Amino acid sequence: MRTQRGRPGSGQPGPAGAGGPAGTGSRVRLRPMRRGDMPAIMAMERELFPDDAWTPRMFAREIAQSASRRLYLVAEDDNGPAGYAGIMFTGGAQADVLTLAVARSRWAQGIGTALLGAMLGEAARQGCAEVLLEVREDNPRARRLYLRHGFTEVGIRRGYYQPSGVDAVVMRKELR
Ligand SMILES: CC(C)(COP(=O)(O)OP(=O)(O)OC[C@H]1O[C@@H](n2cnc3c(N)ncnc32)[C@H](O)[C@@H]1OP(=O)(O)O)[C@@H](O)C(=O)NCCC(=O)NCCS
Repeated sequence: MRTQRGRPGSGQPGPAGAGGPAGTGSRVRLRPMRRGDMPAIMAMERELFPDDAWTPRMFAREIAQSASRRLYLVAEDDNGPAGYAGIMFTGGAQADVLTLAVARSRWAQGIGTALLGAMLGEAARQGCAEVLLEVREDNPRARRLYLRHGFTEVGIRRGYYQPSGVDAVVMRKELR
């Protein structure tokens, strides 16, 4: 992910299972991304993906697509968005996770797990047989998250991320 662009429409708002930091009991909710989220999304995007941040226009194009083609969700609590994710559906058996990000201050609270779980749940609901994604070879934290969710590493795209030239690891999860 991170070089493709997609986006979703209505998405399913929903409960999210992410627990808050120990002791606070705070929880995030998942809901469809909307244009008003852009300032918060772009702040996270630029911090977390300094080499290849998407632009507001890219997000706008993505979230304008129909629910049958994209799902973009935001994880938020009372302080606003804490993370977001997007997945692309092509009408066939395959879905592609396009992006997944959690504000650095909110890492290790289960928010990434909640967002990815929602992406996978929607792919299953749409009858997809498999979900694919690319992750930077030098991103062990994300790779662990995907492995925990049943993805396996199925290939390498050499120099996929530009301009850094970092390889992409292609990961795949079978849904049925
Ligand atoms: C990768 C990323 C999305 C993970 O998000 P996250 O919200 O930290 O993910 P989770 O909290 O669900 O899981 C991360 C770790 O926290 C642990 N964790 C989850 N809930 C926890 C809790 N309540 N208490 C303690 N640890 C917890 C998980 O077990 C996991 O541990 P591990 O890394 O040792 O396997 C986030 O680090 C990020 O945005 N990174 C930058 C952008 C990026 O790389 N995106 C992926 C592009 S392919």
